[in-house]
Amino acid sequence: MSPTLSNPFDADRTPAGAPEDERILCRADEIAEGKGRGFEFRHHDPVFVVRWRGALYAYRNFCPHQGTTLDWKPDAFFAPDGQHLMCATHAAWFDPDTGLCVGGPCLGAHLKPAAIAVDEDGMVRLEKLMG
Ligand code: FES
Repeated sequence: MSPTLSNPFDADRTPAGAPEDERILCRADEIAEGKGRGFEFRHHDPVFVVRWRGALYAYRNFCPHQGTTLDWKPDAFFAPDGQHLMCATHAAWFDPDTGLCVGGPCLGAHLKPAAIAVDEDGMVRLEKLMG
């Protein structure tokens, strides 16, 4: 008899409980001001969504410096100042609204934006899967 695995991810790294329709990310009001949320997908690159100054912004979750994910713990994307996004690996700082790196080893580079929209039900939808 084979042991039961307790890994929260299935074989292709899809988080347990991931929605059937991968383009529906979450309710918009679940992302508070100055907070973010990361999303992983079965066959596409991870993205994250942040709320800053009332608006939602989404990017692929890859740093332009060395391609690591930005979050230093789940859903943690903001620098301590609350005004910039920060990469956990080498602490590059990015403007939340443009994705421009304003400090760190990839100064002048940009996070790759992900197109999102909030639908009539208040759900954040990814307009196009990445990767
Ligand atoms: S990988 Fe992000 S700053 Fe180096």
